[in-house]
Amino acid sequence: MPVRVRSRVARHDLYSRFFGIATTSSELLGKQTDVVTELHPLVEAAGQSGSLPDWARCGPRRRAHAARVANLMSSWATSLGLEGDEIVRWTAAGHLHDALKDAPVESLESLAESGWPEPLLHAPACATRLRADGVMDEELLLAITYHSTGHPEFGLLGEYLYMADFLEPGRRFLAADRDALRERLPADREAVLREVLRRRIMLQLDEEAPVLPASLLLWNRLVTS
Ligand SMILES: [Fe+2]
Ligand SMILES: [Fe+2]
Repeated sequence: MPVRVRSRVARHDLYSRFFGIATTSSELLGKQTDVVTELHPLVEAAGQSGSLPDWARCGPRRRAHAARVANLMSSWATSLGLEGDEIVRWTAAGHLHDALKDAPVESLESLAESGWPEPLLHAPACATRLRADGVMDEELLLAITYHSTGHPEFGLLGEYLYMADFLEPGRRFLAADRDALRERLPADREAVLREVLRRRIMLQLDEEAPVLPASLLLWNRLVTS
């Protein structure tokens, strides 16, 4: 096995069913949920040094937010006992997730499937650009695509990115509540994830903003599992 190869647990058979993504996980490691893959240079650069692709449109304020998310991801990955490349990968998810946050809406529309509300377009658009550059890490792409909404097929990476985006210490609204929830991670993942999702859905309801089906499907998964 090459040096920079790692295995990780993901639900790729489900990804395949819902997103038409082919995987080769089962034969490679003899386990249905294990896959072997290598860090893409863009992912490695983001995870190692916080550098973003040249197509990124992300001003200083957004970069500072992304760096705080990345710090949380790195810290939680370490606490969870993940190793080398996997910590880099989790850190990269934090740095990359809002890489197109400051891009003009018109430039994002062609990169996202229909049905995304305008404020969330940057997320699927970022995943589309990463995929076009050769990033084939489906768990990472799913985490970035749905970092604002949650998704029922999230693996750990997606769940923690979703929580880090909401709980990072730079957010001032409900700061004390966020601090308290953040302190419970990574140990109390399921309960904190449920609380973060509940709060995000409630905020959308209060603002009379649309709640995407992915959020409700994740909620249903959490309250029925
Ligand atoms: Fe975002
Ligand atoms: Fe964000």
